[in-house]
Amino acid sequence: MQNSIANLFAPVRVGRHTLKNRIVMGPMTRSRADHDGVPTPIVAEHYAQRARAGLIITEGVYPSPVGKGYVRTPGIHSQAQVDAWRQVADAIHRAGSLIFMQIMHTGRVSHPSLLPGEALPVAPSAVRAEGRIWTNDDTQKVMVQPRALALEEIPQIIAEYRDATEKALAAGFDGVELHGASGYLPEQFLSSATNRRSDAYGGDIRNRARFVLEVIEAMVQVAGNDRVGIKIAPELGLNGVSDDSPWETYSCLVRKLDELNLAYLHIGYFGAKTDYRKQLRPLFRGPILIGGGLKKSSAESLIQDGTADAAVFALPFIANPDLPDRLQKGLPLSVPDKSTFYTPGPKGYTDYPAASDH
Ligand SMILES: Cc1cc2nc3c(=O)[nH]c(=O)nc-3n(C[C@H](O)[C@H](O)[C@H](O)COP(=O)(O)O)c2cc1C
Repeated sequence: MQNSIANLFAPVRVGRHTLKNRIVMGPMTRSRADHDGVPTPIVAEHYAQRARAGLIITEGVYPSPVGKGYVRTPGIHSQAQVDAWRQVADAIHRAGSLIFMQIMHTGRVSHPSLLPGEALPVAPSAVRAEGRIWTNDDTQKVMVQPRALALEEIPQIIAEYRDATEKALAAGFDGVELHGASGYLPEQFLSSATNRRSDAYGGDIRNRARFVLEVIEAMVQVAGNDRVGIKIAPELGLNGVSDDSPWETYSCLVRKLDELNLAYLHIGYFGAKTDYRKQLRPLFRGPILIGGGLKKSSAESLIQDGTADAAVFALPFIANPDLPDRLQKGLPLSVPDKSTFYTPGPKGYTDYPAASDH
């Protein structure tokens, strides 16, 4: 492993890029776009404040209007969105960091009121997710039974990921990450409970993994393998996904991903009985990013023992824009205000001070 035996603050090669340190800002939906999915100007400011990270992964961004799952989330299908994202990428580059866009199609985790023409959300199969979702009028609505994608519609969905990748690169992004976790469309295909198809995209794991792999291949076609990463979070169980044999599913998927020589594999680990961080490491030869409740000491030991090449911190970046400095100097961390995670405007978004401002 090219990146082992180093600390959090040493540079690391990730695909085409060299990160200045091994602290990655993890993807976080913060709902600061307008109703057309255009990021507002504070989005550039927010990310630029956090550019001490070696790499920033954006919040989930929908590739097409039907991929939208939450109020005020951003997209990457219109020219206005591309123009706004260019401001974000430029701000990060000026501040001396790198930024990947996370492409997130939420599939069945949506609601007709968020979709064009009040359309039904799409999914591999017509299996409803339990729970409610925040919609455009800022009320929570019960998720509906999605419409199963017809076989002949799937190439179009995959093409939307390719177009989104092209637009992210046109906006100046350094790469793209496929959101393959949290129960959204790719994981709906991957997981046995949400995929009841009997065609080439359903059934055994080779078929259930087909959608994810074809999406990744489409993204690679435009960005190159060294600018595409994927996030997985086995057994997280968010948004009602579950799998009959998760180890078989994820070991099979990761072996296939390994053949594609991607920029990185991002593993979110949330304390499942199988320690996927350790178990998947030998199956993937490229850089591995690991996140999920990390502290400085746990991040350092994952890097020192070669399990991870870089450590992903999400939540701690909300109230600590200068998180890498605070970790390096051993300064105390501020606690974020949950009530402003998804509210519009700068409060709880761009107004957390750096330690040096106190
Ligand atoms: C407010 C919030 C929004 C999130 N949105 C996303 C998202 O859009 N995409 C994603 O992959 N994960 C998302 N996550 C999960 C984080 O990326 C990360 O996996 C999780 O918070 C665990 O890491 P942490 O303990 O360092 O926060 C979100 C987490 C939070 C707290």
